[in-house]
Amino acid sequence: MSHILPVIRPEKPAEKLLVDQLTRSIFGPGAATRAAAALREGVPHCPYLAFVAELDGALIATIRFTPVRWGSDEVLMLGPLGVSKAFVKKGVGRSLMQAGMEVAQRAARSDGHDVVILVGDLPYYQPFGFNRIPPERISLPRPVDPARVLGCALSTGALDRFSGAVEPVLRTQ
Ligand SMILES: CC(C)(COP(=O)(O)OP(=O)(O)OC[C@H]1O[C@@H](n2cnc3c(N)ncnc32)[C@H](O)[C@@H]1OP(=O)(O)O)[C@@H](O)C(=O)NCCC(=O)NCCS
Repeated sequence: MSHILPVIRPEKPAEKLLVDQLTRSIFGPGAATRAAAALREGVPHCPYLAFVAELDGALIATIRFTPVRWGSDEVLMLGPLGVSKAFVKKGVGRSLMQAGMEVAQRAARSDGHDVVILVGDLPYYQPFGFNRIPPERISLPRPVDPARVLGCALSTGALDRFSGAVEPVLRTQ
């Protein structure tokens, strides 16, 4: 696998539509119907937890985190993480994961989000600290393979505080 070295940097507010478009091109039209997408619908992602990979002036990959409610408290939901088809398996996803998880870890004390959850492949996310969440501890708004529901504690034992249904965060703005 030959790696490439795009610039990994925060997503700018003005790039929101461009990044939304990139996400649609990576995941296709069915993406909006997935359980994770339902939780993000209408909820702004964390502005300090959104990164892009830029190569020769073009955006080629994205990662965002969005707050969701899990039981009685808030956690972060990671996603989408997407890399343009032409650039997969060249280390870009890993670089975005490292950038995102590092900032999430640093921010955990101030923003109070000390758990990250996601729906994805365990073999890919395990090296970043994710493990399966037992199905009896968590339910999502749409059917999902329980083996793909993963969580990572950003402080010791943080995952033990949570159980129940995951729902969108409702903000009154
Ligand atoms: C999945 C995705 C984000 C991974 O990003 P990437 O840039 O292609 O992956 P990387 O090059 O950083 O991979 C890092 C390592 O994980 C491995 N890997 C990649 N995808 C994997 C997967 N789905 N399962 C297990 N391992 C995977 C790579 O082979 C690599 O291993 P190596 O270092 O031993 O060679 C990207 O391929 C993608 O966007 N795919 C389409 C959309 C998608 O499925 N997103 C994930 C939603 S949960």
